[in-house]
Amino acid sequence: QRIEWDLQAAQKGGFKHFMLKEIMEQPQVIQDGIAGRIDDATQEVVLDEIADLPIPGRLHIIACGTSFHAGLWAKYLIEEWARIPVQVEVASEFRYRQQVFQEGDLALAISQSGETADTLAGMRIARENNLPIVGLCNVVGSSVARESDGTMYTQAGPEISVASTKAMCSQMVALLLLAIAWGRKKGTLSAEAAQQLTGQLQRLPHTLSTELERMRHAAQRLATQFSKARSFFFLGRGLGSPLALEGALKLKEISYIHAEGYAAGEMKHGPIALIDSEFPTFALAPQDSLLPKVGSNLQEVQARGGKIIALTHPGTDIPSDERWEVPQMGSALDSFLFLPALQLFAYEMAVYLGKDVDQPRNLAKSVTVE
Ligand code: AGP
Repeated sequence: QRIEWDLQAAQKGGFKHFMLKEIMEQPQVIQDGIAGRIDDATQEVVLDEIADLPIPGRLHIIACGTSFHAGLWAKYLIEEWARIPVQVEVASEFRYRQQVFQEGDLALAISQSGETADTLAGMRIARENNLPIVGLCNVVGSSVARESDGTMYTQAGPEISVASTKAMCSQMVALLLLAIAWGRKKGTLSAEAAQQLTGQLQRLPHTLSTELERMRHAAQRLATQFSKARSFFFLGRGLGSPLALEGALKLKEISYIHAEGYAAGEMKHGPIALIDSEFPTFALAPQDSLLPKVGSNLQEVQARGGKIIALTHPGTDIPSDERWEVPQMGSALDSFLFLPALQLFAYEMAVYLGKDVDQPRNLAKSVTVE
């Protein structure tokens, strides 16, 4: 028994759970996701894996769960930097909808396991309609990799915990590099803007590694304080919107607390009726052009007696009952500080509530059946 326990502990790198180990591996994951993809001399992004694939006129991102959230996040960057229209759809809907495809469409399948049945089925629909397919996955030789015309591997290493954490971080790194590469090829993103982003990306692992322990303490404090909540709203705008969906999913799947991720601007179209003192809101409030809008949405939450945790940066002016500050990178890279905070909040809540963190009830690591 003791040997078995030691073996398990060794596999978890001494961490209590695989999920915590994998959250803490994210600085390394970012490092590995960049490796070989930024030219030292020119600082240009070089993605050999998709070099001979066409730049799409329109991109269809096909994914499920956390990978779908990574796709939603990438939509903002690919549209802004590469000016390519992006449609992101859960694979279970994509595969059955009577799609209208057009010349220049390209499919991008995102899957950590590379074996998700709905995502594979979506790829086959794309194949039947002669779309070139790029696979973004974390398992070499997986079905997604085998069935793609070009495969980008996320280099995150094995992800054991059912709740996906470092995989999403690695997907976001790859997708950010893809958006930069396409933007540079199309001339819609300047060399200076690209170099600023790749420079920040190369500094990110150090920034994150110095922050993770502090984040964990904040997550422990807030999870304990809000552990009686029966439901949570996660709200965000822009890049904060897909992260809000992800924060809600993490909390749901490992602590079994009901959570809704919402675009903050949608609250007044009905959901705000749910707010009361027992239904707290976790708000993502990065220092960006949408911050004032998020602020006014939160004033409406407070006016209804809702308690607010605001995940933000030092110096922002945002309504909250609890401020949780993380360093500001000043660009899309702020998402790489927000994501682990959301993951740790869910993790510490599940631990505090005594849940089976790595193997949540009724969940499989890879959903290989419909
Ligand atoms: C995320 O925490 C879940 N485990 C689940 O939503 C997962 O992201 C989804 O099943 C997709 O898996 P894939 O990335 O392996 O395709």
